[in-house]
Amino acid sequence: MSTSFAINQPFEVLEAVKLPDPKTSVVAVLGLGYVGLPLMVGFADDARTIGFDIDESKIEALLNGEDSTEMTTGEDLAKKNMEFSCDVKDLHDADVMMVCVPTPVMQGNKPDYRPVLAASRTIGANMKRGCVVVYESTVDPGTTENKCIPILEEVSGMREGIDFYVGYSPERVSPGEHARRVGDISKIVSGSTPQVTDYLAELYSRVVKAGLFKAASIKVAEAAKILENTQRDVNIALINEMMQLFDAMDIKVTDVVAAAGSKWNFHKYFPGLVGGHCISVDPFYLLNAGRGHGLAMDMVASARTVNERTAHFVSDKLHEMLDPEAHNLQGKRVLVLGRAFKDNCPDIRNSKAFAVMDSLWTRGADVFSYDPIADDGQFEGGRGAKVITSLEEEGPYDAVVVTAKHDCFVEEIDLFKIAAVVGRGSPIVDLRGLFDEEIAKLQFNYWTP
Ligand SMILES: NC(=O)c1ccc[n+]([C@@H]2O[C@H](COP(=O)([O-])OP(=O)(O)OC[C@H]3O[C@@H](n4cnc5c(N)ncnc54)[C@H](O)[C@@H]3O)[C@@H](O)[C@H]2O)c1
Repeated sequence: MSTSFAINQPFEVLEAVKLPDPKTSVVAVLGLGYVGLPLMVGFADDARTIGFDIDESKIEALLNGEDSTEMTTGEDLAKKNMEFSCDVKDLHDADVMMVCVPTPVMQGNKPDYRPVLAASRTIGANMKRGCVVVYESTVDPGTTENKCIPILEEVSGMREGIDFYVGYSPERVSPGEHARRVGDISKIVSGSTPQVTDYLAELYSRVVKAGLFKAASIKVAEAAKILENTQRDVNIALINEMMQLFDAMDIKVTDVVAAAGSKWNFHKYFPGLVGGHCISVDPFYLLNAGRGHGLAMDMVASARTVNERTAHFVSDKLHEMLDPEAHNLQGKRVLVLGRAFKDNCPDIRNSKAFAVMDSLWTRGADVFSYDPIADDGQFEGGRGAKVITSLEEEGPYDAVVVTAKHDCFVEEIDLFKIAAVVGRGSPIVDLRGLFDEEIAKLQFNYWTP
């Protein structure tokens, strides 16, 4: 058998464009929310930084030094290298484009890739040759390579690895935990080639002082982030389920966790409502990916179900304590402390406090919602709850539910204040342990997990 080679056939040698200098790279951040804005502030210490968002009112607020996420300060926003814009032309100068847009779910909990794909189109149409595009939004493995790169190539007419580069670096900030800022949290970086990974490690070291982990590939980095959040969902679901069983057996789950935690390899988790933009959403991306591979992902699916049901357990608990004989809570006035999805965070998106309030309202209760830090700009419902701005505004109440332990609640609301608006012996369901149990039990029909 003979093999012939077309030795005279001309072929094009494509020379890959040089990566920019990580120390001076001009960074553009697309999506200026909880993730994008603090990142942008970090990069602005060293070089020009462009913040781009499609929400004009957000850009206007940021130009006025206002950040509704409370992730940054007026001083941060006034740094000299910070530029805010809704004009795509301002992206033309960027050496790096970082995608920090939402990755929510649609009806039926199907992943909604539209914002990430739209941002990819914007970048494709506006990036210069040599640009490095980094995705920070949480996605299931394969999204960057199979969905985003083809759009970047198609819209730009350029080739990844030759004319531009791509990486993935998941964000790990936890809004509300002010002691752990973006620079204090170790970061995973990954690139389409080892050189891109090295470039990203140097680039991010401008901001992240807690160390950088070079993932084996973009898919590994995508998978690592979604595993982190799913692991948390599963662990909290286990404790939420235990809370329900142990409560029926008259055992406090937190006492059980304290006892079990005396063993070196027991991991302590506490019950709570799992809402928000990440932990209650990301596992659905994995479930969708599992379906694509014929896998039911039973554990991930069960965790989601248990955590979604926990709001009903809270409502059931109050119903049982308030009036076990009644079929409904008609006319009962319930004060709910906390609208935000977690402690010390203004974000109310997908907050399960609304699921608790909905459930109480459906049973006929009049629900009054107090949360001075909640950012109601993105109010998404909560059918029957009336928002109040002081505890006294609608008192007296028949019962209290605590869904968040904000620092401002700890500082401002004590049992004397509660006693002024809630009668002695009334039920309090304190999911977050806001009050001192021993003292609360002297005055109220108090339950905490
Ligand atoms: N919030 C968190 O705690 C957290 C933590 C880690 C990772 N993440 C992930 O980071 C991503 C962003 O989350 P977030 O909480 O910052 O979202 P966010 O909703 O607070 O901010 C997203 C911003 O993107 C803007 N946007 C939407 N489409 C755009 C587009 N095509 N071009 C430019 N801007 C666009 C929106 O107007 C908004 O201002 C998500 O994938 C999320 O899962 C979030």
